[in-house]
Amino acid sequence: MLVLGIETSCDETAASIVERIGDTANPIPHGNILSNVVHSQIEEHAPFGGVVPEIASRAHLSKLDFIIEKALLDAGKDLTDMDAIAVTAGPGLMGGLMTGLMTAKALSAATGIPFYAINHLEGHALTGRLTNQVQFPYLLLLVSGGHSQFLEVNGLGDYTRLATTIDDALGEAFDKTAKLLSLGHPGGPLVEQAAKSGDPKRFQFPRPLPKKTDMNFSFSGLKTAVRKAAQDNAPLSNQDVADICASFQQAIVDVLKNRTRKMIAKFENTHPNLEDKNLVVAGGVAANKRIAEVLTKTCEEFGWSLIAPPANLCTDNAAMIAWAGLEHLGNSEPSPQNVAPRSRWPLDETSKSIIGSGRRGAKA
Ligand code: KG4
Ligand code: ZN
Repeated sequence: MLVLGIETSCDETAASIVERIGDTANPIPHGNILSNVVHSQIEEHAPFGGVVPEIASRAHLSKLDFIIEKALLDAGKDLTDMDAIAVTAGPGLMGGLMTGLMTAKALSAATGIPFYAINHLEGHALTGRLTNQVQFPYLLLLVSGGHSQFLEVNGLGDYTRLATTIDDALGEAFDKTAKLLSLGHPGGPLVEQAAKSGDPKRFQFPRPLPKKTDMNFSFSGLKTAVRKAAQDNAPLSNQDVADICASFQQAIVDVLKNRTRKMIAKFENTHPNLEDKNLVVAGGVAANKRIAEVLTKTCEEFGWSLIAPPANLCTDNAAMIAWAGLEHLGNSEPSPQNVAPRSRWPLDETSKSIIGSGRRGAKA
């Protein structure tokens, strides 16, 4: 089974060909990535310190055809070899979503190959199955530029949100901190790099911890504290910047450690006969080595494993979209030609609407 994946929901134009492996001898399905082409628009958006939706739309439009062609070429395949096309239909920036979805519809109409409109978050959520053959159910921590959520992944299409951010997403907090310290964009990797030579104890930033009943995240207080530290110590030396980054990252790590412990306990409660105990991390922030290191230790305390896909599959890519398409192929009906893009599309549609859930993009 071969699927072409297309991703254009934010600031990466991406296409990928993924093959599904799994037969009676090897019943756990997993993926073989034949090509994975990602064109990042970082340079186009860098002067603005964040993603500018109109610039993103134009960049997707001018690049997508070539990116798809390259993905097919790299894989040594023809479009007609595909069993399906999988395309991100939301959540994200409308212009980009429309570019990807219309392209997939056109390719499908011209070739008769079915297409699947995929939720970008489902792509992130299922990446651990593509890379590590993780079996359902598992606990998922999705931390990206638009999301910070814990979810129960009970099966394909069966997701329960356990916690989300009530304000900024975690990646957004990294990006805003970097912008404030004039480090550049996207901020996550730059803050992580600067933090390496900093003192994590110099600034005592707030660690908004939940009351017993509230497991949600909130990062806006942390952002304000970072701004105040930067103002109080201006002009900032390189060491000041490194110390702020290290202290900021430490506050994040402490909050994640606290929530992970609570979520694991909760998950074990609702899944008493759990055999494989896995926490899968997904989304761009999962590429942060310090965060992964702390989450690994926290999981080990409970006899759990942390599954962290490689960094290039944590950040936005089309291989995860192709894989989500492969999971749906044979399990769900293909999408109709009139399916519409959705700028807001929570994975758990029954969960209460909170600003930080089901939203991504528009980070500028
Ligand atoms: O999943 P992703 O590529 O796009 C969205 O769906 O938003 O995540 C991008 C986010 C950005 O906010 C970026 O700063 C953050 O992930 N990020 C990181 C790191 N690498 C990327 N945050 C912290 N540490 C990193 N190493
Ligand atoms: Zn993403």
